[in-house]
Amino acid sequence: MAHLLIIDDEASICYAFRRYFEARGLRVSVAATARAGLDVCRRDPPDVALVDVCLPDADGIGLLADLRQAAPAARFLVITAFGTLETATRAVAGEAFDYLVKPLDLARVAQAVTQALESGQSDLADATAPAAATHAARGGTQAPQLVGAAPAMQEVYKQIAWAARSEAAVIVVGATGTGKELTAQSIHDLSPRRAGPFVAVNCGALPESLVESELFGYARGAFSGAVSDKPGRFETAHGGTLFLDEVGDLPPAAQVKLLRFLDTQQVDRLGSLSSRALDVRIVAATHRDLAEAVAAGAFRQDLYYRLAVIVIHLPPLRDRRADITVLARHFLAALSPSPPALSAAAAACLEAWPWPGNVRELRNVMQHALAVCSTGPILVSHLPPALRGPHGDSGGAAGSGGATGAARQDALEAALAAVAEACDWRRPGVHTRAVEALERYLIRRAMADAGGHQIEAAEHLGMHRNTLRRKLLEDRPQDPPASGHA
Ligand SMILES: Nc1ncnc2c1ncn2[C@@H]1O[C@H](COP(=O)(O)OP(=O)(O)OP(=O)(O)O)[C@@H](O)[C@H]1O
Ligand SMILES: [Mg+2]
Repeated sequence: MAHLLIIDDEASICYAFRRYFEARGLRVSVAATARAGLDVCRRDPPDVALVDVCLPDADGIGLLADLRQAAPAARFLVITAFGTLETATRAVAGEAFDYLVKPLDLARVAQAVTQALESGQSDLADATAPAAATHAARGGTQAPQLVGAAPAMQEVYKQIAWAARSEAAVIVVGATGTGKELTAQSIHDLSPRRAGPFVAVNCGALPESLVESELFGYARGAFSGAVSDKPGRFETAHGGTLFLDEVGDLPPAAQVKLLRFLDTQQVDRLGSLSSRALDVRIVAATHRDLAEAVAAGAFRQDLYYRLAVIVIHLPPLRDRRADITVLARHFLAALSPSPPALSAAAAACLEAWPWPGNVRELRNVMQHALAVCSTGPILVSHLPPALRGPHGDSGGAAGSGGATGAARQDALEAALAAVAEACDWRRPGVHTRAVEALERYLIRRAMADAGGHQIEAAEHLGMHRNTLRRKLLEDRPQDPPASGHA
């Protein structure tokens, strides 16, 4: 009978998993701490263990090495509440069989456990990783920021972490602005090649006549004007990663040369008689369907198969809506030394937009918003008109009569920002100052409205008339006007 160990301090998870897997014929052990889990591994090694990242006495991923030593034949599945690229990288570097992100879906967990049981010795991390790459990318501190933890990005992070440990060619597929280049850069930065160069070439931007000399270099005299030897981008990338952006635009002759490099790790400069052996890892990207280009005869099928050893699909931003405001705040923080807040109404507009230009478009929109908002939060009116929605434009023509919900919310946020600013909100005691200022203002306004009638003003304010009288007395001797510039 297969033995499953669950190391998690959350009793409800342990209970649910135990019931579920026992009903499916597994023997289940449970441990609430790292220490107890290690103990089980030594006494009664499991076939598969589910390990929570966040344990009371240890970090689950850090624990993997010890667990593996105690139970060398076991497969480990890591459970995490935070599906970031860093977790994925650490889990793969720790040779976890797979990792699962909370909230957990029992069917998905069962599928992972079954795969782990069936996998025998073969390990997810070993499938493409050469032994030398075992230390790929600890920590991930110097990794570029791929922000967002929407479910659609989890698979991407897993594949990046995996690709970083491998030397195989990668194709990153995605619409414009989805983060293809950032993904390629992440793979490089997390790989053992990170100390080497990352060289990016946009194959679509090079004139066809220059592609080959640019990529492969040339020897003196190769053509008129070739007055000296020149290395190509392949050579510049020696020891590192060559990112071939829009690889689908590569002309046929260059496709042949790329294929030869992938087969032999050698390139020839144009007009040169000798080949050069190079150590370059290829990561390619395309916004179009290369399989279609192959079918149409525009892209070599053999090259496609050599490149597409690992294929990473980047989802469009509209398929990861949970990340939109996270990314928006990320860009505000990256683009401004003192990033403003994002108003709730503006956030709602961002979430509703379909983002045809994906993450790059979102970045541009935040840049625009920062440019037009002077102080205070980003409001709907700071967004480009198209994004404001059918009723979001608070600034302009009062055609439809009366403020809409979004516009009112915006006006309130703008006013509150002004109050906070006037009260010098960075000074301690701002709460008292702001609340008193607002109350004084409302009392004066109600009194003026009621023509000095205290009982009527008290009623309107929803305040007992004695309280109002007391506050009016308190207000009189001390204060200069509340709205004065302090
Ligand atoms: N997940 C992300 N987190 C943070 N920034 C991101 C993310 N994805 C993309 N970006 C940023 O968005 C912009 C566009 O990303 P990138 O250039 O990688 O996209 P691309 O897919 O290569 O676009 P194109 O097809 O237009 O070349 C960059 O400024 C990049 O840093
Ligand atoms: Mg790009």
